[in-house]
Amino acid sequence: MAGAGDRSIAALGVSLAANLRVGSSHVSASATALAGQRILLCVGGGIAAYKSLELVRRLRDAGAAVQVAMTAGAQQFVTPLSFQALSGHPTRTTLWDGAAEQAMGHLELARWAERVVVAPATADLLARLAHGLADDLVATLCLATEAPLAVVPAMNHRMWRHPATEANVAALRARGVQVIGPDDGPLAEGESGPGRLSEPEAIVAALAGTAGPAVVASGLLQGLKVVVSAGPTYEDLDPVRYLGNRSSGKMGFAVADAAARQGAQVVLVSGPVQLETPRGVRRMDVRSAAQMRQAVADALPADIYVGAAAVADYTARAFSPSKIKKTGTGQSLVLDLVRTPDILAEVAQRADAGLKLVVGFAAETDNVADYARQKLTAKRLDLIVANRVGVPGSGFESDDNAMTAYWPGGERDFPPAPKVRLADGLVELIAERLRA
Ligand code: CTP
Repeated sequence: MAGAGDRSIAALGVSLAANLRVGSSHVSASATALAGQRILLCVGGGIAAYKSLELVRRLRDAGAAVQVAMTAGAQQFVTPLSFQALSGHPTRTTLWDGAAEQAMGHLELARWAERVVVAPATADLLARLAHGLADDLVATLCLATEAPLAVVPAMNHRMWRHPATEANVAALRARGVQVIGPDDGPLAEGESGPGRLSEPEAIVAALAGTAGPAVVASGLLQGLKVVVSAGPTYEDLDPVRYLGNRSSGKMGFAVADAAARQGAQVVLVSGPVQLETPRGVRRMDVRSAAQMRQAVADALPADIYVGAAAVADYTARAFSPSKIKKTGTGQSLVLDLVRTPDILAEVAQRADAGLKLVVGFAAETDNVADYARQKLTAKRLDLIVANRVGVPGSGFESDDNAMTAYWPGGERDFPPAPKVRLADGLVELIAERLRA
């Protein structure tokens, strides 16, 4: 009966398990997380390749063992010898080097790696990785490895914003690839915009998981205001009991965080949850569906509304000021409940709210696609994100999820991944739909 992104059935008197995850960023944490890790650094052909020298040093400082592979383009900017000196291993530059292959075959190198980092990842390299090409050593290693892949893009800002690059990055993210950066700022050609390679320190922190899911914004939602609702609502029955649901709020908080990192001004309307407010986000705490409705109305106008809250669909017709006493054995208790207003549908219909995009969530146990598309139409949404609940390792309370987004005429699958990563992918899709 409750609604939403990470919600569930209403349960009398159920309180949420405290599940506090706090992220901090400091070097010792990076060192702990990366100590002893075998990292394969693949260097692409961009001017930012010189920063990867510093990256090798910092990864080794954090305790990682580093081997380096370079594309032909990368060798135009930095020499293999420099990487060899810093990594303490021969640098691999081609598939066709018999001596190097004999020492350690490229498939062996792909297996050796516990983590593969591509930095800088040029537009060309991202395209080749997105399409699964194996036309040089670096692409082959990335295809052959089973280790988690992280890419650190660096390129001209027009190339970064090109729909082809955006689609390639979205495809990589959807496969669970970690995308770090790029930074916004001055670029090599005297221009400015998103496309700078993240600083080595930030890359190390992101790899170590100490800087949140993706450190740096690329400004996809720059200048836009986003209102996100998250968490459950509690509908009080009497002074000691309420109707609640098992939503943890993690998905909505992750979306708010991702939007803020993409440059948006974010207001997060949150039901009762045990979560830290994401950096740079304005938070409004509420308890009931009625309070959430009011807070959302107060937060508007905005450019984007994301309804990720598990709003109760029913509330008590009347709050009992005194504790409801139990009746005789064998007698049942009947609660008189009334419908709450559908906040999402109301928002979607408001012409004065300035909204360019309204996004809903649908948590379903079956017929996911059908029910989601019905809600998309019935609530007049621009985008709906559906996830199947009731399966282990996904949905409410879980850190992970799998979901599919539907819009009129299209859909996108997000395979199982941590919610923080899915939120990055969703915000990217939101930016795409805004421009469509
Ligand atoms: N929602 C809302 N206000 C409500 C109920 C739901 O804003 N009173 C929003 C949720 O935030 C979510 C979306 O509607 O984005 C879908 O919620 P869901 O519960 O899946 O759908 P319902 O419309 O409640 O349908 P049902 O419970 O029958 O599946």
